[in-house]
Amino acid sequence: MKFFLDTANLDEIREAASLGVLDGVTTNPSLMAKEDGDDYPAVLKEICDIVGGPVSAEVVADDSDEMIRQGRTFARLSEHIVVKIPMTPEGMKAVKTLSADDIKTNVTLCFSANQGLVAAKAGATYISPFIGRLDDAGMDGMQVVADLVDIYERYAFTTQVLAASIRHPMHVVEAARLGADVSTMPYKIFQQLFKHPLTDIGIELFNRDWAKVMERRKANVRR
Ligand code: E4P
Repeated sequence: MKFFLDTANLDEIREAASLGVLDGVTTNPSLMAKEDGDDYPAVLKEICDIVGGPVSAEVVADDSDEMIRQGRTFARLSEHIVVKIPMTPEGMKAVKTLSADDIKTNVTLCFSANQGLVAAKAGATYISPFIGRLDDAGMDGMQVVADLVDIYERYAFTTQVLAASIRHPMHVVEAARLGADVSTMPYKIFQQLFKHPLTDIGIELFNRDWAKVMERRKANVRR
């Protein structure tokens, strides 16, 4: 499974990339709005340079012509750009056109298996089912991931399932168990993947015992 960071914060992206297990980044207009500045293309370009892997850049438009125009502009920024397009009929027209141009796409705001099936038929590179927002609405977000993994395998679609709107580390585990290709997550959750209290306790214990060995060695040298 690939790990993507769901942020537009350059410090978080740099820090996560330095750990060596980051594969890509997803951004959206809300994540951009949280950061300083308004030069979206410059930020995207910098993210691409840091990550060297797929970076989703979301279009903001209602009609397919404008989505295609924005998508082509993003794609010129870097070979790593993936154009993120909302799951609407106009959006699917744009996906069809951009994929015919070999521009990668990520269909966002997917809340059902049928939407995911349509996106795959349109030629999407990634489909982003929003697990957390479905769970928040009292539905089973992970079921959409399970259905899409199953449907894509059955019909040999190459569209990758990108589990999005992840709220906690167990979402990552469940998405991995179901065979999702990617999980995109906030930095806080990415950090939590590395952590376990027993690891910390174990390190403390090993350090304490090793200090005893060092003390003993010093005592033996003095003798
Ligand atoms: C990523 O591609 C999505 O835009 C993001 O995961 C949405 O997450 P949210 O539901 O926490 O806003």
